[in-house]
Amino acid sequence: MHIHWFPGHMTKAIRMMATELSRVDCVIQVLDARAPMSCMNPAFDAVIGNRPRLFVINKYDLIEPDDAKLWKRYFQMAKYNFVFADSAHKTDALAVKNGLKETASVISERYRKKGVEKTIRAMVIGIPNVGKSTLINSLTAEKKTVTGDRPGVTRGKQWVAIDKYIDLLDSPGVLYPDFKDQEKATRLALIGSIKDDVLDKCELALLGIKILCKLAPNKLATRYNISDINAHNPLGILEEITLLRGYRLKGDTPDIERAASAFINEFRKGQIGKFVLDEIPLL
Ligand code: G4P
Repeated sequence: MHIHWFPGHMTKAIRMMATELSRVDCVIQVLDARAPMSCMNPAFDAVIGNRPRLFVINKYDLIEPDDAKLWKRYFQMAKYNFVFADSAHKTDALAVKNGLKETASVISERYRKKGVEKTIRAMVIGIPNVGKSTLINSLTAEKKTVTGDRPGVTRGKQWVAIDKYIDLLDSPGVLYPDFKDQEKATRLALIGSIKDDVLDKCELALLGIKILCKLAPNKLATRYNISDINAHNPLGILEEITLLRGYRLKGDTPDIERAASAFINEFRKGQIGKFVLDEIPLL
C-alpha cells in the first residue's frame, strides 16, 4: 500500500496556518502518545517560528506507564515544554493550563517589563484525530466566550478565557500529516490521522498486525483468542479473526474486510492493549 502525499495540499495548509498563527502568542501542539514523533513534522516548525510551544502528549491513557517514562525522559532531554494528558477523561486540564502559563511566561514577562498586563493568546494545533477538539473542550468547559473585539479573528472563531491572563482560540488549527516516509504514514493511518478513504483497510490491518506481532503478540492473541499466534503470518491472523468472530458475507464467504475494520477500530480505541508505535529516540 502506498499512502499518497499531496505536496500542494500541504503547502496550502501551511500557508493558512501561518495566517492563523500570526494572531497568537503561543501554541499548544497536540501529539498522540502512541506516535508523538510521527505527529511532528519539520514543516510545522518553520510556521510556528519562535512562538513558545507547549506539546500536549495526549491519549496518555493508551500507553503503558513505562513507555510514558521513556517519553518523559526524551522530551525533557530535548528541552521541550510538555505535559501528558488524557483529554477524553478531562483529568489533566489543570496541568495543561499550568504548562501553558509556564510556557507563555516569557511573553507575559516581556509585556510586564513594558508595564502592561496583556492577555496571552494561545491556539491549539495538530494533525487530525490527536484529540485537539477534545482538549479544547476540556479546557474551555463552562468558560465564557471573551466579549469585545479581538482584531483579525476569523468569523466564526472565538476566544475563550481559560485563565485570567490566557485566551484560547476555540477552534483548532489542523496540520497536514507528512506522508513522505511510508512507515510513518502507516503509523499515522493506524492512529486515525489519515483519512480512511485513501486507505486500503485490509492492507492497513495487515501492516498493523505485523507491527503488533513484533511489539506484543500476547496482547493480540488475548484480544482475539488466538492460541498459536506465532504460527501465523499477518494474513493468517486476520483470517483467524474473521473465523473466530464469525464474520461472513452472503453465501458463507469469510468477510475479511469486516475483520480488518474491527481490528483497526479496536486498535484505535486501545481495546487490543496499550502500544507505542514510534521508536522512542535515545538522546
Ligand atoms: P481532533 O480534533 O484532533 O481531530 O480529535 P478529536 O478531539 O475529535 O478526537 C479524536 C478521537 O480521539 C475521539 O474519539 C476522541 O474521543 C478521542 N480522544 C481524544 N482525546 C483522547 C484521550 O486523551 N484518550 C483517549 N483514549 N481518546 C481520546 P472518536 O472515537 O473519534 O469519537 P468519540 O469517542 O468522541 O465518539
